[in-house]
Amino acid sequence: MDIVRKVRRFVEEECRKPSSKYGYEPFEHHFKPMVGYAEKLAEELGADREVVLVASWLHDIGSIVHGREDHHLTGKVIAEDKLRDFGYPEDKIELVKRCIENHRGSQDNSRGTLEEKIVAEADALSNFDNISGIFKAALVYEGKDQREAGFSVLSKLERKWRKLHFEESREMIRPKYEAFKLLLE
Ligand SMILES: [Fe+2]
Repeated sequence: MDIVRKVRRFVEEECRKPSSKYGYEPFEHHFKPMVGYAEKLAEELGADREVVLVASWLHDIGSIVHGREDHHLTGKVIAEDKLRDFGYPEDKIELVKRCIENHRGSQDNSRGTLEEKIVAEADALSNFDNISGIFKAALVYEGKDQREAGFSVLSKLERKWRKLHFEESREMIRPKYEAFKLLLE
């Protein structure tokens, strides 16, 4: 089995465990769309596809295993151990670790390797495929009412849109972004 499939299987197993911090839902609703965008961007921008895919499957593993706080750092440790178990080359492990460490949206996405930028960008793009998840966070976890939740979902999507780094990403997502604005404004 190739490394991408091994890593995907590992992440899916972690999401299925009863100890998974957010249950199985992130696998379907976050990881899968996120990896899809990462793959498209890697192809269009000529990045190292394998590094991008391995890092994309693993980017939130720290959050699944330990919770959201510092998950870019906890995830890096888990990824390193697991990839070494799989016999993945050390130089590639380093590239994957950098992608995981620097994927968080709160960080500046103008520095780093192309692969790092793609992982961070795909993470932002995946929000546009998970509007029910963003509503769930606002209504259930943050206890907002419907009106407030509508505002907060729209402002989150606007923030993600403004921070997109590649024109290729904006092209991919523009119809969805415009549809959300129409529905939520
Ligand atoms: Fe993510």
